[in-house]
Amino acid sequence: FLPLPTSYVIEESLDFSCLKGNGYISDYELHDLFKEANLPLPGYKVREIIQKLMLEGDKNKDGKICFEEFVVQELKSSDIAKTFRKAINRKEGICAIGGTSELSSEGTQHSYSEEEKYAFVNWINKALENDPDCKHVLPMNPNTNDLFRALGDGIVLCKMINLSVADTIDERVINKKKLTPFTIQENLNLALNSASAIGCHVVNIGAEDLKAGKPHLVLGLLWQIIKIGLFADIELSRNEALAALLREGETLEDLMKLSPEELLLRWANFHLENAGWQKISNFSTDIKDSRAYFHLLDQIAPKGQKEGEERIDISMAGFSEKDDLKRAEYMLQQSDRLGCRQFVTPADVVSGNPKLNLAFVANLFNKYPALTKPENQDIDWTLLEGETREERTFRNWMNSLGVNPHVNHLYGDLQDALVILQLYEKTKVPVDWNKVNKPPYPKLGANMKKLENCNYAVDLGKHPAKFSLVGIGGQDLNDGNPTLTLALVWQLMRRFTLGMLKDLCDGEKANDDIIVKWVNRTLREAGKSTSIQNFKDKTICTSLAVVDLIDAIQPGCINYELVKTGDLSDADKHENAKYAVSMARRIGARVYALPEDVVEVKPKMVMTVFACLMGRGMKKV
Ligand SMILES: *[C@@H]1O[C@H](CO)[C@@H](O)[C@H](O)[C@H]1NC(C)=O
Ligand SMILES: *[C@@H]1O[C@H](CO)[C@@H](O)[C@H](O)[C@H]1NC(C)=O
Ligand SMILES: *[C@@H]1O[C@H](CO)[C@@H](O)[C@H](O)[C@H]1NC(C)=O
Repeated sequence: FLPLPTSYVIEESLDFSCLKGNGYISDYELHDLFKEANLPLPGYKVREIIQKLMLEGDKNKDGKICFEEFVVQELKSSDIAKTFRKAINRKEGICAIGGTSELSSEGTQHSYSEEEKYAFVNWINKALENDPDCKHVLPMNPNTNDLFRALGDGIVLCKMINLSVADTIDERVINKKKLTPFTIQENLNLALNSASAIGCHVVNIGAEDLKAGKPHLVLGLLWQIIKIGLFADIELSRNEALAALLREGETLEDLMKLSPEELLLRWANFHLENAGWQKISNFSTDIKDSRAYFHLLDQIAPKGQKEGEERIDISMAGFSEKDDLKRAEYMLQQSDRLGCRQFVTPADVVSGNPKLNLAFVANLFNKYPALTKPENQDIDWTLLEGETREERTFRNWMNSLGVNPHVNHLYGDLQDALVILQLYEKTKVPVDWNKVNKPPYPKLGANMKKLENCNYAVDLGKHPAKFSLVGIGGQDLNDGNPTLTLALVWQLMRRFTLGMLKDLCDGEKANDDIIVKWVNRTLREAGKSTSIQNFKDKTICTSLAVVDLIDAIQPGCINYELVKTGDLSDADKHENAKYAVSMARRIGARVYALPEDVVEVKPKMVMTVFACLMGRGMKKV
């Protein structure tokens, strides 16, 4: 889905999951909704929005938008979203199907899915069952609203984030005992800023929302965190056996372009084919009868052929059961024998809940991939480089801003420049969306359409963004040239980071020099002995300047007993950096950089750390 012009964009995304029961909303219903919402927009703009919505959501051109395939992501501007949502909720019948409504304090209704709540609670209960720090809230009852209360102090969220991407959060930084409103707020800051750093879209969620346990926001955030963990290893460079999914005539590169969702579908079909069963095209309609699942379980169950591996035979007895729900239950009993009865109930299978079934399958893959890395074939394994830390950070940054589509592969997913154009908009470079070609691209000449977008993206970079783009053309983005794409992406991230400071510097344009001077002054005024020359300053590798700066911004927050000083080993430096990054996030700085970036003094990332801290420091809280 495409970003709407800035004036309509921002704040909360509309959740149309409540519509999934009847599935459709028609052109005229949409008109009515807008009318009812009484939007402060001229008529032609409303028509423009509707046109866009229909264009994107009405794939088969029958005048109805199918919300199964279409989620409005970016129709945001808080007021508009609120009034629009109110109108939707008032619309009789629409929200009565599926989902539960929650009446927020502002009187706005949001709907959320009971099924998701049930699934996530069970998943968290299992994931953290042995964590002593969570004893005060676990296990949660999946049938009550335990979840929303339990997550309110931030501890479980921090733990789940750290499980999804190991070592994201320094254990020492979580406040665990004698919690006060202030330390709870810190935990929630830590959770939100860390979630953002691993690529969750958290632009519209604040600590207050989590503290208040707003169901739709809590579930939305949880799903992103859980999904990142489930998908972490569904990637060729992390799991070379995935190359077994190569089809005739394909190269490793082709396979590397697939999204985790696409790889999972391939994986399931690989096993279904071996079972002689028909292929599926989604984890929704096509799995409702559980029969594909029966075969998949049977294929992946351990056969007891490896050392110490216990053989588990899947019983197909329930396969011919007549009742869908009972058949689903029999299938899930078999998945239970693999320790994989997670995420879905029989009803979720029969209703084809796409999100929960995707999670169910992803978990099966993680536990029992049952793939063998192909040997002796003409596979060029040298192609297989995992993404660099820098690439991952850029990708997480983009995704945390909610770009659409989600960026799985930095170069491949930027080749039509749509994401880059959205990033321009988020860094306050106006984009004329009339000049942009939007998917679906025509079969013939698709690449020309993408190239045109890339050319426009480079033009915007030269003017008005005034980036340094010497030697970079649209073709380079379209080709997915790593170095040149990175050069542009970095300038976008830099502009974004400095943009946050602009309002704080009395409109003066922030730059490296201003930041360094501010850092030095702030350190000096707090009586600290550290200082920095610039962002390449090797002394930064100890993280002492960062830690001191954090303590200068929020006096007394650093526990100096945990900070290593003197002659530091690499391990010491790493410990300090881990502590510093987590502490920065805890006091409210949205730091994307990783501890390694500080230890190795990577100037770009170091700049973002100090800039974020300056932003935090200048906001008198
Ligand atoms: C985070 O993960 C790392 C590695 O898995 C672990 O050592 C650490 O204790 C975890 N910290 C938290 C806060 O869960
Ligand atoms: C799933 O794929 C089948 C075709 O295999 C199609 O008929 C069905 O509409 C699809 N369901 C969804 C929800 O996309
Ligand atoms: C920062 O402070 C150090 C030590 O006082 C000094 O050597 C350096 O020139 C300062 N840099 C800037 C840009 O203020």
